[in-house]
Amino acid sequence: MRIPSLAAAALLACGTAAAQVPDGALLGSACAGCHGVTGEGGHGIPSIRQMHGREHFVELMRAFRANERPNTVMGRIARGYTEAEIAALAAHFARAQ
Ligand code: HEC
Repeated sequence: MRIPSLAAAALLACGTAAAQVPDGALLGSACAGCHGVTGEGGHGIPSIRQMHGREHFVELMRAFRANERPNTVMGRIARGYTEAEIAALAAHFARAQ
C-alpha cells in the first residue's frame, strides 16, 4: 500500500510541475494532424495560424469547451486543455510561420 501511494504522489508532483510550464509546440503537435504542422488548415479544416490576436484563439477554445460554438470535434478536444495550456497553444500558433 505504501509504495503505490508514494508513486502516485511522485506522478502527481511531476504532472503539476509540467502543467506549470506548458510547452505550446509540444501541445500543438496534437493539433497538427488536422490543422497542419503550422496550423495552416486545409481540406475543410480552418486555419488556426496567426489568428487576429491570441485572445481570439483563446475565446474560440473557451467557446468550444463550453459548447457555445457549433462544432464536430473541437468541443471534445478543447475540454482536454487547461487555461494555461490554451494560452501556450495560442502563443505557439501565433508564432507559427
Ligand atoms: C480531429 C481533427 C482536429 C484536431 C486534432 C484539432 N482540431 Fe481544431 N478544428 C477541427 C475542426 C473540424 C474545426 C471546425 C469546428 C468543428 O467542426 O469542430 C476546428 C476548429 C478549430 C478552431 C476554430 C477556428 C475558427 O476560425 O473557427 C480552433 C481555434 C482550433 N480548432 C484549435 C485547435 C487546437 C488548438 C487543437 C489542438 C489542441 C486542435 N484544434 C485540434 C479539427 C481538429
